Amino acid sequence: MGASWSKNHLPLDGKTVLITGASDGMGRAAARLVASKGANVILVARSVEKLEAALVELKAAALRPDTQRFHYLTTDVSKPDYAAPLLASAVAWNDDKPLDVVWCVAGTSRPDFWIEAPLSLTRTQMDINFWGSAEMAHAILRLWCGADAPVVPEPKHLIFTSSVLALFPCIGYGPYNPAKGALRALADTLAQELEVYPQNVKVHIIYPASIGSPGFARENMTKPEITRIIEEGDPVSTPDAVASSALRGLESGDYAITTALLGHVFRWGSLGGSPRNNWLLDTLMACLIPLIWIFALPDVYGKIRKYARSHGHPSTYRGKAIEGFAEHQDPATDVGKSD
Ligand SMILES: NC(=O)c1ccc[n+]([C@@H]2O[C@H](COP(=O)([O-])OP(=O)(O)OC[C@H]3O[C@@H](n4cnc5c(N)ncnc54)[C@H](OP(=O)(O)O)[C@@H]3O)[C@@H](O)[C@H]2O)c1
Repeated sequence: MGASWSKNHLPLDGKTVLITGASDGMGRAAARLVASKGANVILVARSVEKLEAALVELKAAALRPDTQRFHYLTTDVSKPDYAAPLLASAVAWNDDKPLDVVWCVAGTSRPDFWIEAPLSLTRTQMDINFWGSAEMAHAILRLWCGADAPVVPEPKHLIFTSSVLALFPCIGYGPYNPAKGALRALADTLAQELEVYPQNVKVHIIYPASIGSPGFARENMTKPEITRIIEEGDPVSTPDAVASSALRGLESGDYAITTALLGHVFRWGSLGGSPRNNWLLDTLMACLIPLIWIFALPDVYGKIRKYARSHGHPSTYRGKAIEGFAEHQDPATDVGKSD
């Protein structure tokens, strides 16, 4: 569980990496980054047009353009049973050799008041953000950890992409938070379960804070004003910065990786039974962070209560944001205004 600082725990030169959600935002940045480290990369998303464009960037970023190989596969990760056939195609493209790294990035956030929004929104958010990664994890771990799978010294890596919202759920993300929280529970469980297999497979989970991505621009269209008030002042990182920060954590051998100061604070404040990156630092900070909450949490609740006093019932103001969003609606989050 503990990281050592001297060794690169995720050498990528010559390895094959599959990334979901690789046609935009953080996933696309992560794909460029792993290509620059010498990896062969398989991009996964739905839009062929965006995948073609990402492929061009990968070739430009490659460490060894003459020998590295790049490929894309299209799928909708929210569909049941998508992962096993997708992995079969990926392995066939990889000359029938097992993949080395699978990084689940595909996800999307559609903020709203949980009570006002139809419950179907939480289901579709769960389908993409939880099941999209869980299906992939189940399929790849069955390949890597099967009774006939080779036992090799060099580890395989499964990487989940959650959100800081799994560590500090915030008003306005009710339809989204549960999926990212469920990913945390799954990753923490798998960290234990993988110990019973002879194969060497590592699981990691990334908790990004705000990323200035196309997805972020979309989520801002329906974000309740009170959510913006709570988030005011939170720095928005570029997809490249978040991908770099995530990769640094992976190279250090960390299990749980936060990519911004706020994320580090939230992680220390909610360690519970999660695996530790560094026993000394994590334990020390876990003792200190509750002192910060003495001041921070009343501030958050104070803002929410003040907003409620001046704005009345959410049903009176929520509709305007939703109508604005309808013109730019992502089919994957296609839900009506009410049940
Ligand atoms: N943006 C933030 O502020 C933020 C903060 C914390 C965590 N995160 C998480 O970080 C990850 C990346 O976020 P981002 O904002 O960089 O994403 P983004 O810009 O919205 O890009 C999302 C990627 O996922 C793909 N995708 C979406 N739905 C899909 C589906 N049903 N099947 C297959 N692919 C799908 C998209 O491609 P297609 O549309 O072509 O399929 C695209 O490549 C997500 O898991 C997100 O939840 C984001």
